Amino acid sequence: MFFKYSSAIIIILVAFIIHSWWGTAESSSASDVKYPEGYRNWTHVKSMVLQPGHQLYEAFGGIHHIYANDKALKAMKSGAPYPDGSVIVFDLLEAQEADNAIVEGARKVLGVMEKNSRKFASTGGWGWEGFKGDTKVRVVTDPTTQCYTCHISQKDRDYVFSSFRN
Ligand code: HEC
Repeated sequence: MFFKYSSAIIIILVAFIIHSWWGTAESSSASDVKYPEGYRNWTHVKSMVLQPGHQLYEAFGGIHHIYANDKALKAMKSGAPYPDGSVIVFDLLEAQEADNAIVEGARKVLGVMEKNSRKFASTGGWGWEGFKGDTKVRVVTDPTTQCYTCHISQKDRDYVFSSFRN
């Protein structure tokens, strides 16, 4: 009787362990870029407003701010390749005209580049993701065509356009 129960428990435990292992294996798939918690406290690199008529207006119209975490900032300043763990954020907000000023509106999308040269080897060592508005809903379905292809022009700078102004 005792044996019966304990073997049932062991089977359940093993099933549980396999299930959770499978779960982690799945959640670290190639597209899994982490949400950049706390990025508003990172270093602000630059800002830019794309207005109607700009060739990227459809996709990136509005005002964007770029932030780098400490690892990314060091590489950006020194010109060294970005080490694993570097994260750069493209915070895109609506640009609204008010009283002859351009002010920030609602967040449109949060673009993220996360460096992990092994996990994201097929897209320049960077993981690419977009989070919709103020949510954690992922919007990138194909990082290669939606993001990486355009950043390839910056291959010599480890796929990063921005530089840090003193
Ligand atoms: C059509 C070209 C193009 C596409 C497509 C594109 N980007 Fe960019 N990206 C740029 C340019 C140009 C900049 C520099 C903007 C600036 O100077 O303020 C940039 C900047 C960035 C930055 C800040 C770091 C850097 O390179 O300056 C991040 C993060 C970023 N993009 C993420 C993404 C993600 C994620 C996607 C896909 C959802 C994407 N980008 C798609 C052109 C593109």
